[in-house]
Amino acid sequence: MELIINGGRRLRGAVRVAGGKNSSLAIIAASALAPDVSTLENVPHCRDVETLLGILEALGASTSLEAGRLTIDARGLNGHVAPYDLCRSMRASFYTAGVLLGRMGRAQVPLPGGCSIGARPVDFHLRGFAALGARVVTEHGYMKASARRLKGNTFYVPRSSVGTTINLMMAASTARGATVLQNAAREPEVVDTAVFLNLMGARIKGAGTDAITIEGIKELHGNSYTIIPDRLEAGTYLMAGAASGGDVLVEGMIPEHLIALLAKMEEAGIEVIRNTDGVRARSVADLRAVDVDTAPYPGFATDLHPQMAALLTLARGASTIRETVFEARFAYTDELRRMGANIKAEGDSVHITGVERLTGAPVEAPDIRGGAAVLIAALAAEGTTEISRVENLDRGYEGLERKLRLLGAQISRGGSLESREVG
Ligand code: EPZ
Repeated sequence: MELIINGGRRLRGAVRVAGGKNSSLAIIAASALAPDVSTLENVPHCRDVETLLGILEALGASTSLEAGRLTIDARGLNGHVAPYDLCRSMRASFYTAGVLLGRMGRAQVPLPGGCSIGARPVDFHLRGFAALGARVVTEHGYMKASARRLKGNTFYVPRSSVGTTINLMMAASTARGATVLQNAAREPEVVDTAVFLNLMGARIKGAGTDAITIEGIKELHGNSYTIIPDRLEAGTYLMAGAASGGDVLVEGMIPEHLIALLAKMEEAGIEVIRNTDGVRARSVADLRAVDVDTAPYPGFATDLHPQMAALLTLARGASTIRETVFEARFAYTDELRRMGANIKAEGDSVHITGVERLTGAPVEAPDIRGGAAVLIAALAAEGTTEISRVENLDRGYEGLERKLRLLGAQISRGGSLESREVG
């Protein structure tokens, strides 16, 4: 399966951003901490969400997702061994470790594989569970952990880690006593998960700062909640509009979640107009080169680095993006070079010299955000681009063709033999 894009058209119009994939994955997992029913609104229909729902169903929960509304009945959750095949395909499956430990007192969860952006170990998670009193061993590709009941403790997270912060927040919610997570991640997805956990009866304070306190309680209950919008999808569409020389309004997003990106887009000469329900990005002049360092929130998000690189391949001058979070998220640069970009990865940085134009070519989506970079380049390039490994894009973006067509893109999805329209 591949996406076929006839590029070189200025994107214009408005698109509504979906609910946050990464927030949804954390909150869906958290809902299984309670032997109860929860209803979540604004859940994106993307592959990662479907994978996690499959994992929870294999553990005994039942779920139903209709038009962004997800009902999870976790009363029947009775397994403590997460399914190897489903877990291997998605790192966020490791959230089941914190949930099963917090609810069942034991967990057997496959160690997530690395992917094309880095090794992505889970050593901090394992050390955190041990700090909470769990016996933790890794063998035969699994983490096996158990504890009669976890015991609150203070744990310094060795480096800013969204997954570690969320996993330990969930496990600590039902521990005996208080836990303090020091050097906690401050991402909006951490805050969203803490807000939902508190609606379930947890007692969490300080989410959004680097010190989070969790007073453990015996049992949580279900609740209803609306997931925050996806800041990464929003940023991707804003940069796609700018790279095409267009004028795109992204509705339903939270501008405060993208302060660093919006500042860098303005520095690159793009007009950014913020209003209460969204942000509009207009190309008003030639793009200017800028330098970017990725950083944990509220810094420039690593998950927007590849998309920014695609934009900067068309900016006048030389730009550098220093990637400080993942050691290997550079596979997309090979694909952009096929389209005529002057881009090279060296050490922890990507060096870009702007070119007049990109040209369409057969390329692939190496991972979710690398795929988004290739998509942005294809929309701006002259001629036709075929993007293979589209499943990587589908992991993080719902309704790609529908939303891009709203902005005037010429895009279709087809097997290599024939092109087939998808809604
Ligand atoms: C989350 O991944 C996101 N995924 C990622 O988005 C995002 O890139 C990342 O946070 C950073 O913001 C989800 O929320 C599902 P980390 P996570 O723990 O939690 C190292 C996307 O495109 N580390 O914050 O796995 C790690 O290798 C995805 O939507 C350890 O060394 O990231 C990385 O270098 C891609 N040991 C750094 O910390 C550990 O035990 C930050 O990783 C854990 C992490």
